[in-house]
Amino acid sequence: MHHILDLDRYPLDRPDSAEFAALVAKAQAELAADGMFNLPGFLRADVAAKAVDALAPRFAGESFTHARRHNIYFRKSIPELPADHPALVEVETINRTLCGDQVGGVLEALYDWPPFARFLAATMGKAALYTMDDPLARVNAMNYAEGQGLNWHFDRSEFTTTLLLQAPTAGGAFEYRTDLRSEAEPNYDGVARLLRGQDPALQSITLAPGTLNVFRGKNTAHRVTPVQGDKDRIIAVFSYYERPGVRFTAEEQMGFYGRVA
Ligand SMILES: [Fe+2]
Repeated sequence: MHHILDLDRYPLDRPDSAEFAALVAKAQAELAADGMFNLPGFLRADVAAKAVDALAPRFAGESFTHARRHNIYFRKSIPELPADHPALVEVETINRTLCGDQVGGVLEALYDWPPFARFLAATMGKAALYTMDDPLARVNAMNYAEGQGLNWHFDRSEFTTTLLLQAPTAGGAFEYRTDLRSEAEPNYDGVARLLRGQDPALQSITLAPGTLNVFRGKNTAHRVTPVQGDKDRIIAVFSYYERPGVRFTAEEQMGFYGRVA
């Protein structure tokens, strides 16, 4: 893994070292304070560039174009809200997706490298994390071309783990509003205010290629703004679960990937 990851800076291969413990402690502190942590330069720059080159013909020829209109909840309706409530306003998301059986290469090798899952579990305070058995969902690569973005939503899973492979020239900013809601308080009026573009607590970051990002997005609304220019935003998404053997249903595979495997 030394030729893929900067293990001098991020010693995932030395879980008994003081440096590893310090890295985990820093990640945990950032998750607690900011709802995310970033490891810039985690994937070596030349490796990220080569991965982009390897994925490009597959994005062009065999990817799934996933376009959908959705509200921030990814749900058709919310029982306690009228259909015209401004928290339910619809937005559009569009990107191209490559699935686990198409990504391959260093990204799949990293996904299946046990110290990576062990490190992620430690940062999230979990006993263990397991790879999926789902051939499509395990590791995905997403491509956002000019005008495309990932629109406002809350995540279904507690954590999301991504690795940026290529950043666009402009646009493609990651915008988020920390703890917009909680389990006890859905804060529909606050959601409506955010969607109107009037939430002063909105934050924005742009990441450099090679950065690993772990994000807690269940109650923090977030989006990626539309890409500008002819350089696409390309990002890998790694899916781990707290139990082994997780697979999507055929219906979920169809909804996310347009095919069943
Ligand atoms: Fe998300």
